[in-house]
Amino acid sequence: MDLLSSLREIEDQAWAQLQTCQSEEDLSRWWQTFLGRKGGLTQILRSLGSLPLDQRRTVGDKANRLKNALQEAYEERRRRIQEEALTSALAKAHVDVSLPGYPTLIGRLHPITQTLRDVLDCFRSLGFQVVEGPEVEWDYYNFEALLIPKDHPARDLWATLWIDYKRDGEMPMLLRTHTSPNQIRYMESHSPPIRIVSPGKCYRYEATDPTHEWMLTQVEVLAVDEGLSMAHLKGVLSEFAHRIFGPQRKVRFRCEYYPFVEPGMDVLIDCFQCQGQGCRTCGGSGWLEILGSGMVHPQILANVGYNPERYTGYAAGLGIERIAMLRYGIDDIRLFYQNDIRFLEQF
Ligand code: PHE
Repeated sequence: MDLLSSLREIEDQAWAQLQTCQSEEDLSRWWQTFLGRKGGLTQILRSLGSLPLDQRRTVGDKANRLKNALQEAYEERRRRIQEEALTSALAKAHVDVSLPGYPTLIGRLHPITQTLRDVLDCFRSLGFQVVEGPEVEWDYYNFEALLIPKDHPARDLWATLWIDYKRDGEMPMLLRTHTSPNQIRYMESHSPPIRIVSPGKCYRYEATDPTHEWMLTQVEVLAVDEGLSMAHLKGVLSEFAHRIFGPQRKVRFRCEYYPFVEPGMDVLIDCFQCQGQGCRTCGGSGWLEILGSGMVHPQILANVGYNPERYTGYAAGLGIERIAMLRYGIDDIRLFYQNDIRFLEQF
């Protein structure tokens, strides 16, 4: 058989078989048969050298054109096969919209935020307004104006983190150790009647243990008006204790010293663990301290320009961590700020 007719035969076969290729494997077998190193067409192209010159040109020309045409057809077929495979894979992978979706992780409020909001809601509903003050505070507002002068032993009650900034050889700035400086700030710029609560973070130079953290959240309560007395203080703080810890709680007031109130007192509730019998939670006393309070010292009223003959006031400061611990039965304050999801997701 001469080369031209075997070329024609290869041509017929190649086109016919290409139409039957359904997969990439079929295609690569086809490629081997016709265009591969040992393929029919390659053989012919290789044997061109042994032909006389005039035949070499016609056969070579035809063979090369066939080769290019087959290569193009091969690429085209391959694209079609790939497209069809994709389309059918997509068709098979249809989405069943009736199946439940993947659950989205939903955040929640930190237990301190939750408790803080409950406390603020309680005071708001009693007619108090929420105001905030700075966390970096002057010694003046944190201590001096609250009748805690330099070298006064009462400063030891609030282990302080000082800001490394000196003026006249002294460090006048600190991280506030309580929210009480907001009493002064607010009174300086407002006149009675006053009913405010002031929440925020406070800081203490403290070795941490189950009941001490170097950062804590407080809420300050301040009311100044004509005719306010201990009766108002007791009424408001008892109402607060009952709303947060339940109406069945007993509330007790016990004298305590705070330089900026006179008289000063702590508020306690009967221990809900043991109903006042004495247990580990209440240290055997049957009572739990929930906050410090007292009647605003008349000297403070005078210092901010109020007439202490006319106005009286009461103030209280409560620690949100302590209230949350009592509320949820948490025995270590440090758990709040360790960012352990196993702890946090329980609230
Ligand atoms: N500021 C006091 C403390 O941090 C609490 C307090 C506030 C006491 C207001 C009396 C009146 O311990």
